[in-house]
Formats: sequence, C-alpha cells, structure tokens
Amino acid sequence: MNRFNDKVILLTGASAGIGAATAKRLAAEGGQLFCLDVVEEGLNQTVADIKNGGGKAEALICDVSNVDSVKAAVTACLESYGRIDVLVNVAGVIKLDHAVNITDELWHRMISINLTGTFYMCRECLPQLEASKGNIVNISSTSAIRGLPYGIAYGASKGGVSALTKSIAVEYGKKGVRANTVCPGSILTNMQKDSGLPDDIDWNLIPRISALDEFGVPEDIAGVVAMVASEQDGKHITGTELIVDGGTVA
Ligand SMILES: NC(=O)c1ccc[n+]([C@@H]2O[C@H](COP(=O)([O-])OP(=O)(O)OC[C@H]3O[C@@H](n4cnc5c(N)ncnc54)[C@H](O)[C@@H]3O)[C@@H](O)[C@H]2O)c1
Repeated sequence: MNRFNDKVILLTGASAGIGAATAKRLAAEGGQLFCLDVVEEGLNQTVADIKNGGGKAEALICDVSNVDSVKAAVTACLESYGRIDVLVNVAGVIKLDHAVNITDELWHRMISINLTGTFYMCRECLPQLEASKGNIVNISSTSAIRGLPYGIAYGASKGGVSALTKSIAVEYGKKGVRANTVCPGSILTNMQKDSGLPDDIDWNLIPRISALDEFGVPEDIAGVVAMVASEQDGKHITGTELIVDGGTVA
C-alpha cells in the first residue's frame, strides 16, 4: 500500500516507541516524514531506518512544550517540503503515583508536554492543514476513557487531548480538516518501564485484563494511525477516539 504518496507528515515523539514505529510505517507507505523529538540519538536512528528502507525523512530537535521550538519546527518542515498534509502528535511522558504525591512540577510537566504540546502543534499546523485538506492524529490513551489508578495527571492530560481533538474536528470539519485520537492501551515501550509506579500501591486496582491477554506492540498503533490518517481508508472518520487496547476497556 502507498496511501501516503506525495503526503508530508509532521510527527512528534519520533525517537522511540509508538512514534518511531508510526514514522516508519507512514514512510513505508510513501509519506515524506518530518520527525520531531527531544532525543537526538533516537531521531537519527528513526531517520536512518526510514532512509535505509528507501523512504524520505528529515528530523529536528523540538520540545513540544516550548512554543518557540514548535514554531521553528513547523517553519523548518515548510522550508523542507512546502506543505503539511498530516500532523501526528505522539510525544508524551508519564509518571504514575498516588494523587497526593503528584507535585506541582510533575503535574505541570505532564500537562505541558502531553496536552499543551499537542495544542501548540495543532494550532501552528491548522492553517497548513486547512490549505492541504489534511488531518490530525493525536495519540491519547485509554486513561482518557476510564480511570487510571495513580494516573491523576497523566489521565487529565490525555482527557484534554481527546477533548481538544473533538473540538478541532467539529470546528474544522467543513473546512476539510479531520482530527482523531488513537487511544492505546498497554503497549510495550520505554513508557511502560518509566511509569514509575511506587511500591506501596494497591495492586488490586491494577489488573485490567485485556481480552487478548497480551500487551500490544508499537506497530499495532502505527497501523491504526496509518488507516485513520489516510484519505483512502479514513476519509469518513473524524472526531472519534479509536481504542487500540486488545479489548481492555470493553
Ligand atoms: N506505551 C503505552 O502503553 C501507551 C499507552 C497509551 C498511550 N501512550 C502514549 O503514546 C505516546 C508514545 O508513547 P510511547 O509508549 O511510545 O513512549 P516512549 O517514551 O517510547 O516515547 C515517547 C517519546 O516522546 C518524546 N518526548 C518526550 N517529551 C518530549 C517533548 N517535550 N518534546 C518532544 N518529544 C518528547 C520522547 O523522547 C520519546 O521519544 C505517548 O503520548 C503516550 O502517552 C502510550
């Protein structure tokens, strides 16, 4: 399939996990990738993997929580490719802990990267997406749909991502711009290892059994992003939350 031939895709969180897998999938389908992240080594690896596979990609260090960094990244993407057809916001961070232990600093870090960063990227790209009749895919989480124990800040940030995406979908639908979220369940990435669950939690709150009884892998999310972002398969999908969790919230 080459659903992204001649399409320019701006993607955040491209250094690892879901973002790296999604960048590679979209490039393998003909997309021209402009990859953003704060981790240079991972970014270089993702670009090298895409180029080794015969794809086209460029990369830039960008902190999505910094508006000047976001503006510079969008400008650089336009200088390289001249347009933006698809924006995929994957960058995110997590720290799980008892609600009373979430400090101001942790709260603001999760909100500013996960939510405000997504907002900055969408706001700066919307004029370009309106011109190209493009679309946005924001990576939210099943924590936006049902309570995640020890995830008060992370869940709030992802609930915000889902809400802002629906708002864009209805505001920009008639202008030809679609906007959707993909909500992963438990996917095996660094984030699973870095979530930092404390030792003294109530483990009875944790098991939320997947119907498939297994973790997902980043490629499971990448395939769904490709489907919804493509005009071929996703053109009638907007304002929705695509849950990819092996049936966990069912
Ligand atoms: N892994 C899961 O189980 C899971 C479940 C639901 C949702 N998600 C979401 O999927 C997305 C990707 O997570 P992942 O599991 O691949 O984790 P990951 O840690 O492998 O990837 C996150 C990426 O975001 C980048 N990043 C962090 N802060 C940034 C910033 N300020 N600016 C730009 N880039 C930044 C990191 O460097 C990293 O490359 C996140 O938004 C996460 O919340 C993951």
